[in-house]
Amino acid sequence: MFDSWPSPRLGIYYKLYKSEAHISHVPTQPILVTGGAGFIGSNFILRWFEQEETPLVNLDKLTYAGNLANLQSVSTYPNYCFVHGDIADRRLVFDLLQKWQPRAIVHFAAESHVDRSIHGPDDFVRTNVNGTFSLLDESRAYWTDLPAEAKARFRFLHVSTDEVYGSLAPGDAPFSETTAYAPNSPYAASKAASDHLARAYYHTFGLPVLTTNCSNNYGPHQFPEKLIPLAILHAIGGKPIPVYGDGQNVRDWLYVEDHCDAIRTVLARGRIGQTYNIGGRNEKPNLDVVRLICSILDRLRPHDPVLPHAKLITFVQDRPGHDRRYAINPAKIEGELGWRPQETFETGLRKTVEWYLGHDAWIQNVTDGSYRNWIAKQYAL
Ligand code: NAD
Ligand code: TYD
Repeated sequence: MFDSWPSPRLGIYYKLYKSEAHISHVPTQPILVTGGAGFIGSNFILRWFEQEETPLVNLDKLTYAGNLANLQSVSTYPNYCFVHGDIADRRLVFDLLQKWQPRAIVHFAAESHVDRSIHGPDDFVRTNVNGTFSLLDESRAYWTDLPAEAKARFRFLHVSTDEVYGSLAPGDAPFSETTAYAPNSPYAASKAASDHLARAYYHTFGLPVLTTNCSNNYGPHQFPEKLIPLAILHAIGGKPIPVYGDGQNVRDWLYVEDHCDAIRTVLARGRIGQTYNIGGRNEKPNLDVVRLICSILDRLRPHDPVLPHAKLITFVQDRPGHDRRYAINPAKIEGELGWRPQETFETGLRKTVEWYLGHDAWIQNVTDGSYRNWIAKQYAL
């Protein structure tokens, strides 16, 4: 269905339909995914092609967190197309919407790491706030001019986080969709701003927006700056596993494929203008998570340099403004849309550890000089 085609502009390349005249005869309109080369986006795309035939266009800037190796297995699919570019590039987004006439946008693209947002918040505002605004505004212009049937079918699904709700005390009820926003990190604040813009585009202009707020994800392809992959790589490399503060901060972990299935469910059956909280009722203190990783590795890697792996656990200086506890109440998506996670933490974590152990080349590829610089800066090594 697609042809590769180098674009003269900005070194971006498109794969285009053979003739633009074909656009009006496209049997199935594609969906446009942003940030599909990152952790969750790439899992979403792989799972999409396991279960759907609808074509998919992936717009990604390929920041340090974007990695086309994540998508190698689908890169030659006739109904997949990659576009290298920035969601904040309005001209590019306009062109893409006109060319592809997508029936939906699933918006993952973001700067996503809290610690980086503390060192340098600018990119977070640029992509998460301004980029989401550009995407929403171009989507509104595109959607406004669609014929009635296509207009009624169109969806803009904004992927967000539970971090917008701030921090819970130990006995507090988990976050629901009506919990007041109280973001504490520059990352959370930029995502909260983008959620508010998405909401406003529904309320003011009627753009058919759906928003999902998910808890912490883990699984294959996660960049090893985040707790779980970082702990795995440090443990097998015999390096200190850094645990912030007292290790008692709680996160509510969900296996990435369960998140992707939830997004597909909301896209298919969610009510427009609604938000859906996604989580697996799986709260764990960080120290327990790291200890479980170590015990899985003790069984799988009995010849590593430091055993038991838990000897490597090292308490380090706490993150400034570190949120104490996140927890999601997923009753709405469970009750309304029938979604349930498939993995337990034990099965999901074991799969995740095994994935990292089996993907040396992927690890070598992402832990390059700039990664090592980040680790040295963050952990003052
Ligand atoms: P990630 O950092 O792994 O990937 C982000 C992707 O977006 C990368 O491929 C990057 O190249 C791309 N990108 C960044 N800026 C861009 C821009 N200006 N234009 C186009 N592409 C750009 O992030 P992730 O963990 O996969 O998270 C994806 C989304 O899910 C984010 O919106 C995040 O806020 C949200 N989320 C993440 C988690 C989690 O635990 N990781 C949990 C809930 C929600
Ligand atoms: P992270 O994976 O960065 O996700 P988030 O900050 O979005 O929740 O961190 C998860 C938890 O692990 C969080 O409480 C911070 C903590 N953490 C550590 O203790 N050590 C580390 O090296 C990292 C990266 C995180």
